[in-house]
Amino acid sequence: MNLKILLRHQNKKGNMQKETHIDWSSLGFEYLPVDSHIRYRWENGKWDKGRLLRKHEISLPIAAACLHYGQECFEGLKAFARKDGSVGIFRPLENASRMNRSARRILCPELPEELFMDAVKRVIEANRHFVPPYGTKGSLYIRPLMIGSGAVIGVGPSDIYDFIVMVMPVGNYYKEGISPVKAIVSDAFDRAAPYGTGSVKVGGNYAASLLQSKIAKKEGFPIVLYPDSKTRSYVDEFGTSNFIAVSKDGAYVTPDSESVLPSITNDSLMALARDLGIPVERRPVALSELPDFVEMGACGTAVVITPISEITYGSRVIKYGSECGPTLRRLYDRLTGIQFGDLPDEHSWLETV
Ligand SMILES: Cc1ncc(COP(=O)(O)O)c(C=O)c1O
Repeated sequence: MNLKILLRHQNKKGNMQKETHIDWSSLGFEYLPVDSHIRYRWENGKWDKGRLLRKHEISLPIAAACLHYGQECFEGLKAFARKDGSVGIFRPLENASRMNRSARRILCPELPEELFMDAVKRVIEANRHFVPPYGTKGSLYIRPLMIGSGAVIGVGPSDIYDFIVMVMPVGNYYKEGISPVKAIVSDAFDRAAPYGTGSVKVGGNYAASLLQSKIAKKEGFPIVLYPDSKTRSYVDEFGTSNFIAVSKDGAYVTPDSESVLPSITNDSLMALARDLGIPVERRPVALSELPDFVEMGACGTAVVITPISEITYGSRVIKYGSECGPTLRRLYDRLTGIQFGDLPDEHSWLETV
């Protein structure tokens, strides 16, 4: 990693002063250990008060449920520094509620909303000097994680859980920023079965996508579009982002499917599209419609929108242009403008720390 980091801890008048020299421009989307993470434990039916911990490792029984049976769920959200130096977290309550949906699906205990917010705010405050300053285009990525930490050997839920929130400064997910990328429709592997776990954020979904992703990258496709696994004729979503497109009539189109993760970015873009008078169509999207769209993108927290320049579907290559289209660009600018505090937050999406 080409990242110059210098952390200086000075003791002035008994106070620990933290100075962070990070080359913000060289940040990608990579793990970077910061000062601390926060950890809560659920045992005997309740959550404890949580502790900020400086070490970056965790000790678990070798029979922990998360290690063997994948009993874990996670989230991803961001905080942004604004011009006035304040920090805003983008729609954290949506992540809290999605985390609880994931938790219910895999029999993890639910997290009270206040606990989720307490965790996110405490860990940001403790690592505030890692929030990329306004103007650098970076943000603080926040990764909440819940794991079954109790020892089990027969398949069953754990009796002990840890809820962890870690943070790290990030730049753009794709180094080339908003420049379009090539995608491919997966024809060898499925992402999510109907009534499976596709609509929740559990680790197993991502483990299952690694092989397809590796093959696609080797062939020159940074992202993979998954069809529905029952009929393989409708669009579900990309491996780590929702599918969005613009129709010839100028409508914002996104699939209505039970097996996709309900993206908070997509929800926000739909609201902004409506604000701008752009019709929004959330409906089943047939793969046969792919050539009819004039713009296509992948949306999610890490990327906001990654435009798709072309998609390979079987023997066909469908092209959408080497520049980001005007509608997706407009939505991207609007959402990032709100996140960095340059545009009014009319939907009250940002929670100030
Ligand atoms: C499978 C999948 N779909 C969609 C998204 C986008 O969701 P969000 O906009 O909430 O980040 C993500 C990322 O979290 C994802 O992993």
